[in-house]
Amino acid sequence: MFKRTSTLVKSEEEINIMRASGKITSDVLKLISSFIKVGVTTKELDDVAFDFIKSAGAFPAFKNYGHDKNNLYPATLCVSINDEVVHGIPSDRKLQEGDIVSVDVGVEYRNYFSDSASTFKVGKVSSEKEHLMNVTKESLEKGIEKAIVGNHIGDISHAIQSFVEKEGFSVVRDLVGHGVGRELHEEPQIPNFGKPGDGIELTEGMTLAIEPMINAGSYKVIVGDDGWTIKTKDGKPSAHFEHTIVVGKNKAEILT
Ligand code: MF3
Ligand code: CO
Repeated sequence: MFKRTSTLVKSEEEINIMRASGKITSDVLKLISSFIKVGVTTKELDDVAFDFIKSAGAFPAFKNYGHDKNNLYPATLCVSINDEVVHGIPSDRKLQEGDIVSVDVGVEYRNYFSDSASTFKVGKVSSEKEHLMNVTKESLEKGIEKAIVGNHIGDISHAIQSFVEKEGFSVVRDLVGHGVGRELHEEPQIPNFGKPGDGIELTEGMTLAIEPMINAGSYKVIVGDDGWTIKTKDGKPSAHFEHTIVVGKNKAEILT
């Protein structure tokens, strides 16, 4: 076994495995994007993702995840439609024209985790949804730009929040990004709101999952009856993009 460095920071050998894990995760989202169309059920998408991950010699990291032993997460993907923010459980629900669909996937490969999400359009969507998706994606890019040595977690948080709010949308407060690698969720937490300079300083080789969850209306969310699905309180749409990255000297490396 190779040497594990201090918590949070991964060795080059570990990052190499995370690159392979991240490639599988990004390939899942690419594959799923080709199945996004009117009439497909979210369970059908989940089956496609499960089969692909198993055939790559990896494991779905979300399956059986959770703190409540009586209600572990039952699926490979989280598929969250329109006012669903995250953690939508795949079901018989069919995608409809005009939906926006967040697909989130986590992969465990050779004991290393990667985590990524994208929001997709089903057919033609409203201009508000289109703008929401674009702003959320761009906010992730702005956060990743700050994931460099010498910056702090709060620099990532602030870059996301300030851009999103300038565009008239709101940042979900109750859910955050996270360290990732040897576990699906590691320290530190990465809020999508905050002040520059807050939180720990970033060092080379930290591996982070940055994941803005952005609402068109209020930032407030509620948990659905299934104990998992997070929805906007006001029923307005929400979008979600996520990448697993490695902190670098001048630029972060995106693994997914
Ligand atoms: N990307 C999400 C997160 O980091 C997905 C977790 S789904 C769960 O929270 F089922 F694993 F909780
Ligand atoms: Co995540």
